[in-house]
Amino acid sequence: ATAPASWDKPLAGKVAVVTGAARGIGATIAEVLARDGATVVAADVPAAGEALAQTANKVGGTALALDVTASDAGDKLAAHLLERHGGADIIVHNAGITRDKLLANMDDAKWNAVIGVNLIAPQKITDVLVEKGALKEGGRVVDVSSIAGIAGNRGQTNYGASKAGVIGLVQATAPVLAQKNITINAVAPGFIETAMTAAIPLATREGGRLMSSLQQGGETVDVAETVAWFASPASSAVTGQVVRVCGQSML
Ligand code: NAI
Repeated sequence: ATAPASWDKPLAGKVAVVTGAARGIGATIAEVLARDGATVVAADVPAAGEALAQTANKVGGTALALDVTASDAGDKLAAHLLERHGGADIIVHNAGITRDKLLANMDDAKWNAVIGVNLIAPQKITDVLVEKGALKEGGRVVDVSSIAGIAGNRGQTNYGASKAGVIGLVQATAPVLAQKNITINAVAPGFIETAMTAAIPLATREGGRLMSSLQQGGETVDVAETVAWFASPASSAVTGQVVRVCGQSML
């Protein structure tokens, strides 16, 4: 590993893409990576417009309208990165959705939407960026999984399967990307208060919080700091790993 010029700004000179950066965990990841010195490309669906622009302004980065499930998403992102920045050093696949239903009521549309955004898109985009040289040698890939992909969660067969799949793909991809000195790791958050979890009934939310052995829900910054560590020179020798940010040791 090469130590950064400054540990105050360990990502100085690096270009980082964060998907789903308009709000929630992704917006905080963008802030923390920028704090650490990275130039941030904040990406989100076109409909995120104003919120995405706010994130980009806040972190002094640029906003990119990008639906990660679009068939040309990887090509579009690669072209943007190569033209504007000569490539990226870090990509954080944070964009994610839920379409919760008990299994009996889980239709194909809900399965396909969740698997498409949470599992297929991150891998396809990583593949295209690497193939086109838009993710530089020595780069970092960080995928956002979930405790639901490790422990399961009622009504979330599609979501849990997608997030378990992310762990599988991180492990399978690590030795391949290692040939280019690129690491790939995952963070698996527990319950974090965002717009995504605001839709969950209060009693269930309280249950999620209290399940934590630390007796508290995590905050977006807890996830973001772990992502920042995976992106930093401090974790150069770490790949194919999953870190749970959920205050739980028993699962
Ligand atoms: P959120 O719903 O607040 O934010 C998700 C962002 O992703 C939104 O800005 C949305 O527009 C964007 N997005 C959705 N589909 C997209 C697409 N096709 N292309 C580009 N962007 C898209 O959710 P939150 O809570 O911030 O979640 C972020 C990540 O963390 C997700 O992957 C989620 O599954 C994961 N996570 C969240 C937990 C929580 O408790 N909030 C727990 C574990 C994991």
